[in-house]
Amino acid sequence: MTDVIRVAPDAPDPAALARAAECLRRGGLVAFPTETVYGLGVNALDREAVRRLFAAKQRPSNDPLIVHVTSIDSIAALASHVPHSVDRLARRFWPGPLTVIVPRSYQVPDEVTAGLATVAVRVPLHPVARALIAAAGVPVAAPSANLFSRPSPTQASHVIDDLDGRIDLVVDGGATTIGVESTVLDLTSDPPIVLRPGAVTVEMLREVLGRVDVSRGSTSLDSASAAPMPSPGMLTKHYSPRAALTLFEGDTNAALASLVGVARDELSRGHAVGVIAAEEDRGELARLASDQKILLRVIGSQNTPAIVATRLYATLRELDAAGADVILVHGFRNDGLGAAVQDRLRRAAAGRVVRS
Ligand code: TXA
Ligand code: MG
Repeated sequence: MTDVIRVAPDAPDPAALARAAECLRRGGLVAFPTETVYGLGVNALDREAVRRLFAAKQRPSNDPLIVHVTSIDSIAALASHVPHSVDRLARRFWPGPLTVIVPRSYQVPDEVTAGLATVAVRVPLHPVARALIAAAGVPVAAPSANLFSRPSPTQASHVIDDLDGRIDLVVDGGATTIGVESTVLDLTSDPPIVLRPGAVTVEMLREVLGRVDVSRGSTSLDSASAAPMPSPGMLTKHYSPRAALTLFEGDTNAALASLVGVARDELSRGHAVGVIAAEEDRGELARLASDQKILLRVIGSQNTPAIVATRLYATLRELDAAGADVILVHGFRNDGLGAAVQDRLRRAAAGRVVRS
């Protein structure tokens, strides 16, 4: 059985965390909140525990994990060499939603890095994550605490929905504040390259580092960008709800018209249709909204990507639970944090992107 311990997000009870930390030290699997999404933590130095973690998530073992520590000082033991840029990045963004890829040291088990010569490291900001890692006294490897290919959990209940009975403990510290996973920045290439966009935006990284490239990776719509897969984990199908998700991008009016057309078509086949859109789209979508089988979810404005990010994964899960057969999404603005939202939507769409 999976135990759930509730803690105050800003001032977690030390006794509760001591229990969770002890579980981690003994090789247990403990889910905990970070500022981005819930992570499923294990002692990163315990190979057996790491193997159990992959099994619990049904995650392919070739997808490497992020190691979480409480300060930049802990990175020296994990990296064979710490690039200078880590200092500058840490001063501005740590603790926070930035993961850096650095050359690994021999101390990090192969199970964590999927045998790569590099390791991903991050210093989270959430008080519960920080206190838990500090109490455990070991580096904590933690992927998002979802079953493989399900949306990342932003609440403890999402973790339970996916992993009840498969893990030891969930530390419930309420909803996460950012809602999409950390920015992953590869510092082993020159210039550094963003492998996954997040709340530390590429614009912010360029202010500190100068030139920074963005992996077009598998979420690119441009099939000409046949860049090698930056890491085995950057698979296209990811973050997927059970219902097939289609993303509508491009000119707003044309994209919405196209979405409405597909929605009507699906409705005529008797399918339940989930629609995710922005405040600005309400007018256009009003024509659909009266239909009983439309599950319309407005998750923020085009100008508030931070709000959209906090609601995105919970909405995907909620539409699944509400019985949506298909989910149609009007794309969000592709800059700042919006780039992270769009990236996750494209992954969830797994290629079903309609451009107008
Ligand atoms: O916000 C987050 O990053 C959350 C919280 C829990 O910290 N964690 C998270 O972990 O999203 P996960 O495992 O779901 O995603 C980690 C990503 C994967 O895409 C993985 O392939 C990539 O980081 N990654 C890990 N190590 C890597 C490495 N050495 N080289 C390239 N990519 C790596
Ligand atoms: Mg994940």
